[in-house]
Amino acid sequence: MALEYGTSPVGAPGAAAPTSYDVAIVEPDARQRMRLGTALSTAAQFGAIEELVQALRPGRPVVAVFGPGLATPYGFQQVNRLIASHPAFGAIVAVQEVSTPLLQAALRAGLRDTVALTDSGALAQSVIRVGELLAGVATRTPATTATRAAPGKLVVVFSAKGGVGKSTVAINVAVALAHRTDENVALVDADVNFGDVAVLLGIPPEHTVVDAVSAVQYGDVELVRSLLTRHRTSGLLVLPAPTEPMLDGGVAPADVVSVCQTLQSMCHIVVADLPPQLDEMALALVEAADVVLLIGGMDIPSVKNLKIGMQALDLAAIAGPKLHLVLNRANTQVKLDVREVEQVLGLRAEFPVPSDIAVPISVNAGVPVVEHAPDAPASRALDRIALALLGPDPTATKRRRRDKHR
Ligand SMILES: Nc1ncnc2c1ncn2[C@@H]1O[C@H](COP(=O)(O)OP(=O)(O)OP(=O)(O)O)[C@@H](O)[C@H]1O
Ligand SMILES: [Mg+2]
Repeated sequence: MALEYGTSPVGAPGAAAPTSYDVAIVEPDARQRMRLGTALSTAAQFGAIEELVQALRPGRPVVAVFGPGLATPYGFQQVNRLIASHPAFGAIVAVQEVSTPLLQAALRAGLRDTVALTDSGALAQSVIRVGELLAGVATRTPATTATRAAPGKLVVVFSAKGGVGKSTVAINVAVALAHRTDENVALVDADVNFGDVAVLLGIPPEHTVVDAVSAVQYGDVELVRSLLTRHRTSGLLVLPAPTEPMLDGGVAPADVVSVCQTLQSMCHIVVADLPPQLDEMALALVEAADVVLLIGGMDIPSVKNLKIGMQALDLAAIAGPKLHLVLNRANTQVKLDVREVEQVLGLRAEFPVPSDIAVPISVNAGVPVVEHAPDAPASRALDRIALALLGPDPTATKRRRRDKHR
């Protein structure tokens, strides 16, 4: 059977526009093959890799979707050989359940994407994306894939103590930024073991920062982009942490920095939410950052820990003018006042964020407070941080789409 079709992989036969790539399904099991054939109605079907090889047309780009029967170490080996010997060949694997080990094995074998068999929409989208990339006709809107002339800004959200509001600030500032600019904004959950960005934004952590590390190591920028999940209401591009803590020591800080730098090549601003520990990860990201939002609380342990943490990391020396103090719950009725905190830390409380009941209410609703209650005092304070990060450049800002979220 020759790959002699030239139509889009989705839609009713005849209705789709011609494309400049072929699509093939390879799966030994006839029932699974049929299932894939239903999702990709115009694709040619093969029971074995050898059959596909026989049908390849020289010089014609091919997107091959491999079924679960080939998602084995041996199957990936065969696919890897095929990729190595055919330059215009894009491979996707469709499996019952996408897991991190499987995704990593697929990336190592050179596959472009791993999708769930049950999600026929995602499968069709993935085929189109890979096909367009291969054919060099990807519809790259500048706001999604173009590599920027200058890298975007890396903003890290950092504290020396847990539970002071890092994630609250990181998420809401990132969402506010995404609303305010037409350019791409990304949020990376660098708290790789206990990050809760995905839960707080109500998005499924399908692909994570760990997968992006593998993709960066593989040198595939487009693949990194495809691993981002778009937050529906704001358009924020999110790279969540894995749902399970990493028992094998996790990922190397330098690799997470590389992921952020890759995202900076395609985004106006990249926000990273950091873990509470003052560890190598925090240090590496603080060093790589353009802006460090240091989150402090209004209680004595918070201020004390922040002071000790700043000294331990020699933060003033590393970060210097990059440091900006966000004083969370700045209105809390405690014995400290803002000026005392500023004196102890040697920093001006540039961004006070009040304690606000709207914050926990929005968490329960699974919606960031800047969207759930845009006029709440905390939302306004968080939005002010976003505005300051965007700076005075009027081309980078747009009218806030508040009405949509009322
Ligand atoms: N300004 C605020 N007003 C009211 N509640 C807040 C405010 N900021 C944070 N909170 C609440 O405080 C708790 C801790 O916040 P958050 O998860 O953002 O802290 P964190 O520093 O990221 O914690 P961790 O170190 O565990 O990652 C959350 O329940 C959050 O809803
Ligand atoms: Mg957090």
